[in-house]
Amino acid sequence: MNPDLLTSILTAVALGLASGLMIRLLRNVSEGRRLGFWVFLAVAVLSAYLVTRAIHPDVSGTGMEIFLTTAVMLSANALLQLMNILLWEQFLRRRRNISVPRLIIDLINFLVLAVVAVSMLKTVFHVDLNALLVTSTVASAVVGLSLQDVLGSVVAGLALQMEKPFAVGDWVEIDGDEGQIMQMSWRAIYMRDRSSHVIIHPNSSITKQKVRNLSKISPFMARFQMGIAYPHPPGVVKSTLISATREIEEIRREPQPHVFLKSFGDFAVEYELRFWMNDYGRKYAVLDAVATRIWYALRRSGIEIPYPVRDVNVRMIPEDLEKRREDSAYETIYAELRSIPLFDGLSDAQISSISATSCIQRFSAGESLVIQGDTGNSMFLVKSGQLRVEVAGASSRAVVAMLGTGDFFGEMSLLTGEPRSASVIAETDTEVIRIAKDDFASLISTDAGAVEVLSAALEERLKENAERAALSSGQEPRAPQRSRADILSKIRGFFGI
Ligand code: CMP
Repeated sequence: MNPDLLTSILTAVALGLASGLMIRLLRNVSEGRRLGFWVFLAVAVLSAYLVTRAIHPDVSGTGMEIFLTTAVMLSANALLQLMNILLWEQFLRRRRNISVPRLIIDLINFLVLAVVAVSMLKTVFHVDLNALLVTSTVASAVVGLSLQDVLGSVVAGLALQMEKPFAVGDWVEIDGDEGQIMQMSWRAIYMRDRSSHVIIHPNSSITKQKVRNLSKISPFMARFQMGIAYPHPPGVVKSTLISATREIEEIRREPQPHVFLKSFGDFAVEYELRFWMNDYGRKYAVLDAVATRIWYALRRSGIEIPYPVRDVNVRMIPEDLEKRREDSAYETIYAELRSIPLFDGLSDAQISSISATSCIQRFSAGESLVIQGDTGNSMFLVKSGQLRVEVAGASSRAVVAMLGTGDFFGEMSLLTGEPRSASVIAETDTEVIRIAKDDFASLISTDAGAVEVLSAALEERLKENAERAALSSGQEPRAPQRSRADILSKIRGFFGI
């Protein structure tokens, strides 16, 4: 037998045995089956080439060159696949815990194959590479333009690998899609959503949009919102909601879960329960457990989760509503004015006339109704509430009286035309009937009896103020500076009676 043929056959058999042994050893390694296929294919083509070459040593030509190139390229590929498993996977990732990005491995593989292909072109096909480079300029421009997106993705992929905003296994939200990263390749990101659908986002689009990494910070906060019926006190509701989280293992004790009262809704008080957990992938399972426990806990405590309920009160508005309101205000004012001793001397007709033009006013605690020194153009009758009368001296302020329901004030400047003699301030929420000066004037001018009554009251208050002023300054009380006759003549003069 031709010794060359024998050598080739022995070489082919040795290659076959070696590859068979390797395939057997790699059987249990992940990706071992795929590698086995490539090794088998490469050895088969290489052996076939060696044997053919030994049987027909003189045969040459393009067919044999393509045969050889195919065998070499397949062998190079098989070696790269082997390196993939032994170097990147077993040695670096498993032993050294160094994870080389898939994109880098793919780029190395591509470059090695490109170098082998170029060498084969040069050595086997004797192609002039310089000429090829020149003539391929136009072609490369065309190819470059058409591969613009792909190249953009490769560059973006490199940026993602270097910046590492997320890693395989992280939960992310990209363009509204939530999922877990399965693989980051040179062209795209592969993620699996909660329905186990695979979503592929090109790297170039990822670098242009907002990406939310949901696993980056651990523990993360989960929220559960719900409405509770209005009658239940917030303190009880909050402790019941928190108690529902206690026995769920995945919920962390630190930071502690807590509950916020968020708002008063249309038919429920809105609460938000916040708690922390580690595994984002388990978020919805834990929320389900929390919601279920809350239902039972609320049921046990007798706390109601309300249905959307709305009370609709139907009111018939009469056409003469405004008139009725005026009438009712008039009646109230008339009854109040008639009941106070101040107006005992006035006839019903006179009271009715004042009531028609007076109004009811409301003040909150702390508001001043009358300020000392101001011009007076109305007097007041206290319908409800409490007020204090304060007189400010040169250096101090003194409370001279407290007024309540049925009392009146503001009559002094109304009757005499002098500035307000004191300030009157609401101590509580207060309702008063306000009687305007103009309306009152016409009444006074026609009824001398009313003037008598009012001037008596006025005289009494002046006396009281004078006594207080004397007491507060440590002097003996003395007669008021103004006599009743003085006051009366002042009133008559002011109203032209
Ligand atoms: P006039 O002066 O218009 O404004 C302040 C009002 O306080 C005054 O009218 C009286 O009505 C009232 N007033 C003043 N002094 C007293 C007092 N000693 N007791 C009760 N009310 C008073």
